[in-house]
Amino acid sequence: MRGLIDKLERERGLSKEEFVQLLSGFTPEDADYLFEKSRAAAQSRFGRRIYIRGLIEFTNYCRCDCYYCGIRRSNLNAQRYRLTPEEILECCQEGYGLGFRTFVLQGGEDLTFSGQELAQIIRSIKNAFPDCAVTLSEGERPESDYRLWREAGADRYLLRHETADPAHYGLLHPPAQRWEHRRDCLLSLKRLGYQVGSGFMVGSPFQTVECLAQDLVFLRELQPEMVGIGPFIPHKDTPFGNQPPGSLEQTVFLIGLLRLMLPDALLPATTALGTIAPDGRERGILAGANVVMPNLSPLGVRKKYMLYNDKICTGEEAAEHVSQLAKRLEAIGYQLTVDRGDFKVH
Ligand code: 5AD
Repeated sequence: MRGLIDKLERERGLSKEEFVQLLSGFTPEDADYLFEKSRAAAQSRFGRRIYIRGLIEFTNYCRCDCYYCGIRRSNLNAQRYRLTPEEILECCQEGYGLGFRTFVLQGGEDLTFSGQELAQIIRSIKNAFPDCAVTLSEGERPESDYRLWREAGADRYLLRHETADPAHYGLLHPPAQRWEHRRDCLLSLKRLGYQVGSGFMVGSPFQTVECLAQDLVFLRELQPEMVGIGPFIPHKDTPFGNQPPGSLEQTVFLIGLLRLMLPDALLPATTALGTIAPDGRERGILAGANVVMPNLSPLGVRKKYMLYNDKICTGEEAAEHVSQLAKRLEAIGYQLTVDRGDFKVH
C-alpha cells in the first residue's frame, strides 16, 4: 500500500486498478501514512490556513428527484421556501461583517429563478461587495444560463458529479436524470472559465470500491479546482431512508488521496462529515482538507434545507458562530483566514 501511496504522490494519479487495490485493502496504519503526506502537501501550499465560504441556501424547491436527497421533488413532507433577492443580500451583508469573502448561493433546481433573475442577483452582490467571490451551486441549467451568470460576475460553480459510474448513477437517480448530461454541464462550466467544484458521496447505496476508483480517475481527468466529498447520510423521507451511512474512515482516506492527486485543489471538510462525527471536520483537515463552509442562511429556513437526517446547522457550522469554529481549528493548529481563497497553482 505504501508503494501505491508514494506513486500517487509522485505521479498525481494511479490506474483504476491501483485505486481499487488501495481502497479495498488499506489499514489504519496505511491511512496514517497517507495523512502525513497529504497534510504535508496541503501545508506546503496553504500553510495552516483554512478558507471559509458562507453558504446561502436560497431555495429548497427542486425539480429533481434524486433517491438520496431530502429536498427531492417527491418529498411532500419538505416545507418549501425561497429567499427574496433582498434576503439573499442581507445574508451577504451579515456574512461580510463576519469576515466572509466568498458567498455560495446554493439551491435546489428551482426554475422559478430565471437565468436573468439570478444574473441580476449576482450583479447586485458583486456591486455591493466587489472584493468578494460568488460561487453558484444551482445544479444543471442550460449553457446559456451558465454564460449569463459568468458575465454577471460569478466566479465559481459547484456541481458534484455524484458518481462517475453511469450504471451507479442510474441507481441513484430517476431515468430522466442522466450522467452524460451532468458531465456535459461540468465541461461547459470549465469552458466558460468558472473555477469548478465537483465531488461525490462516500458510501452511497450500491457504491463499490470500483465506483470510487472511477470517481478518482474521472476527477484526475476533469482537473477541477475544488472537490467536495462527504459521507452519504440517509434521509427518512427518501427511498434510501433505511440505508446505512457512509464511513468517516473511508471519507477521510479519500480526502487524503484527493490531496495527493490534486495538490492545489480546494477541498472542503464538509457539513456531512461534521454531521456523522463530532470531530469529523477536524479529521478532514488533518487529512488535507483546507476549506470550511459555515451556514449563512437565515435561521428560520435552516431546518428546511434538510438534505439528510440531523444535518447540523446551528452549532459551530453556523456562520454566526464562526469564532467558535476558529477556536476549534486553533486547537489543532490551524487558522481561519479572511481571504477570497481563489484557486492557484503553486
Ligand atoms: N447524504 C449526503 N449528502 C447528500 N447530498 C444530497 N443528499 C445527501 C445525503 N442524503 C449531497 C449531494 C449534493 C450536495 C448538495 O449534497 O452530493 O450534490
